[in-house]
Amino acid sequence: MSIAIAIDGPAGAGKSTIAKAAARSLGFIYVDTGAMYRSIGLFVLRNGVAPDDRENVVPLLKVLKLSLARNDKGEQLVLIGDEDVSGLIRTEQVSMAASKVSAIPEVREYLLGVQRDMAKTENVIMDGRDIGTVVLPDAKVKIFLTASAEIRAKRRFDELAAKGETVSYDDVLRDVKERDFNDMNRPIAPLKPAEDSILVDTSELSLEESIRLLINTIKEKI
Ligand code: DC
Repeated sequence: MSIAIAIDGPAGAGKSTIAKAAARSLGFIYVDTGAMYRSIGLFVLRNGVAPDDRENVVPLLKVLKLSLARNDKGEQLVLIGDEDVSGLIRTEQVSMAASKVSAIPEVREYLLGVQRDMAKTENVIMDGRDIGTVVLPDAKVKIFLTASAEIRAKRRFDELAAKGETVSYDDVLRDVKERDFNDMNRPIAPLKPAEDSILVDTSELSLEESIRLLINTIKEKI
């Protein structure tokens, strides 16, 4: 029997960095489900369809050839057909498109099967918004990884400033709060902690401390 660990939480809590490091240390496969929603967002934009236009997004799922692969470091890659789109899905435009397509029930249904199949055969640490509540309700360990909106905005602000982008902290904070609201209030698979999840708050922790805390929390349970 394979072991599944579900990690959910809001955007910007450091989920992917922390989960990836924990997976490496524990010898689990890291699955980033947000990247799948992002790839669908990219595909929809490329086809000239608005990401919230359900009627025209749904038929695109029939022609989308989405698959996951691993590079030689074991990192997840997302492919559309033969094209590796892993780098292209990290723009603000694709983030917004991902957020919109993720509210379409048929999109969630399409990815649900893919995500469950992965957890059947491999020991996975899967990160997303609805992993503990919907995708893997029987996961061995469920973590809700979060940090205050102000701290998440500060981290994002510092990241953008380091890239030389001029943004105001207030704008970043507003975006963080808007995405939280969208993710938590959509009718289908909203972001919320599973009843049996363990809350890990990284507001006061460094990245190293957060990784250590996550690994220790998981080790206690498996
Ligand atoms: O984690 P992320 O920022 O890469 O996710 C991109 C978008 O996909 C985000 O707006 C929420 C959505 N998402 C989701 O609805 N369910 C998941 N399991 C993962 C991501």
